[in-house]
Amino acid sequence: MEQYIIKGGKALQGEVSIGGAKNAALGIIAAAIMTDETVTIDNLPDIRDINVLLQAIEEIGAKVERVNKHTVKINGKNIDSISIDYEFIRKIRASYYLLGALLGKYKRAQVALPGGCNIGSRPIDQHIKGFEALGASVRIEHGMIEAEAVELMGNHIYLDMASVGATINIMLAACLADGQTILENSAKEPHIVDVANFLNSMGANIKGAGTDVIRIKGVKALKGSEYAIIPDQIEAGTFMLAAAATKGNVLIKNVIPKHLEAITAKLVEVGVTVEEYDDAVRVISTKRLGHAHIKTLPYPGFPTDMQPQMTALLAMSQGTSIVTESIFENRFKYVDELSRMGASIKVEGNTAIIDGVKGLTGAIVSAPDLRAGAALVIAGLVAEGFTFVEQVEYIERGYEDFERKMQSIGASMEKIDVEDEKAIRKFKLRVS
Ligand code: EPZ
Repeated sequence: MEQYIIKGGKALQGEVSIGGAKNAALGIIAAAIMTDETVTIDNLPDIRDINVLLQAIEEIGAKVERVNKHTVKINGKNIDSISIDYEFIRKIRASYYLLGALLGKYKRAQVALPGGCNIGSRPIDQHIKGFEALGASVRIEHGMIEAEAVELMGNHIYLDMASVGATINIMLAACLADGQTILENSAKEPHIVDVANFLNSMGANIKGAGTDVIRIKGVKALKGSEYAIIPDQIEAGTFMLAAAATKGNVLIKNVIPKHLEAITAKLVEVGVTVEEYDDAVRVISTKRLGHAHIKTLPYPGFPTDMQPQMTALLAMSQGTSIVTESIFENRFKYVDELSRMGASIKVEGNTAIIDGVKGLTGAIVSAPDLRAGAALVIAGLVAEGFTFVEQVEYIERGYEDFERKMQSIGASMEKIDVEDEKAIRKFKLRVS
């Protein structure tokens, strides 16, 4: 099993480039099988979740050709099954986007029901509500969701909450339904807009993505397309916070500054300088940061996927900060790990009360999920001494070449097998 080993205390300096958005790529790969023509997707992040979903569509007969590390050609013409095996859902929940894609294209789909995960129970009742509103009958038995329809008819659908997954899944099914679908209270995240733009590049007719009312006029068929995925808002935010926490000066390239506004606003509020360029932001921090109140909200609010990283930053700020998690019911599990590094944080329900401490000390910690793992790395980058972050496989689900990118801006950080005492000794010698 591998771990990150980090020697804290170095200010991050230099330039780093952000990859394609994981949460856009997952919806776009599912959408790509909805045509019998070839689709080329560029700026695809080379991360585990993406590679697992590509395996899932290959498994049902789609042709997947890896042009290079970040470009893939997909052709869904020879799909010969509409059933997605549990092993794929168990690995990544977002395999459930194949429900909407297969239902839209073949009017039938069978996908294993996703379980909960470390950040909450994560039901998919809104996805099912949308499919049924389009005329599909949906059954759940033996851990599988089966959806089928004689035909899909557009409808007026109201989401009970602005669910990212339900918005994308319903949009997929609706774009090949008969007639118009109006989706109210839809999520507005940049990755929703990217999936809609991709579908429109395939000949779909979707308007309003990025607002809370999306109008979809069904079309008969979708065609091939060439598309490049937007930069990853959360990867960018994670590097912004790492630069700020380490009192660094880092140019973060290949970003869309508008997508980062909520993160930038909070960084500026606590005393960080953020310079915005067309497709980059520079983050400069020179002193101990101030405290803040954070409440995670659907876009354009402060993203829940940046909540752990922000809590790690505020753990060393001056004064008391409050972080409220309004999206997921159990997204503070990592706080116990931060506390082992000396953080003073009290979690009450869905709120964390953070008394900023002057510094943290390195420890052996374990990443309970993807973004919490990134938060522990940020803490390790500023902690005194060595931090060992275990369960790096969680982090690698969403961050391509994470330790290499961090090394490129000066981090003393390596990925080492937990048993490899010799490599650990070598690292300690090299950075001491
Ligand atoms: C997506 O998850 C992202 N995952 C998550 O990112 C992200 O945290 C989340 O959106 C919120 O932005 C992907 O895009 C693959 P939701 P999703 O449906 O779609 C409840 C990461 O780190 N809900 O917007 O599952 C749900 O329980 C991951 O990259 C229902 O009750 O999120 C949650 O409390 C973590 N019923 C809230 O809505 C439903 O049918 C928001 O969930 C659907 C959701």
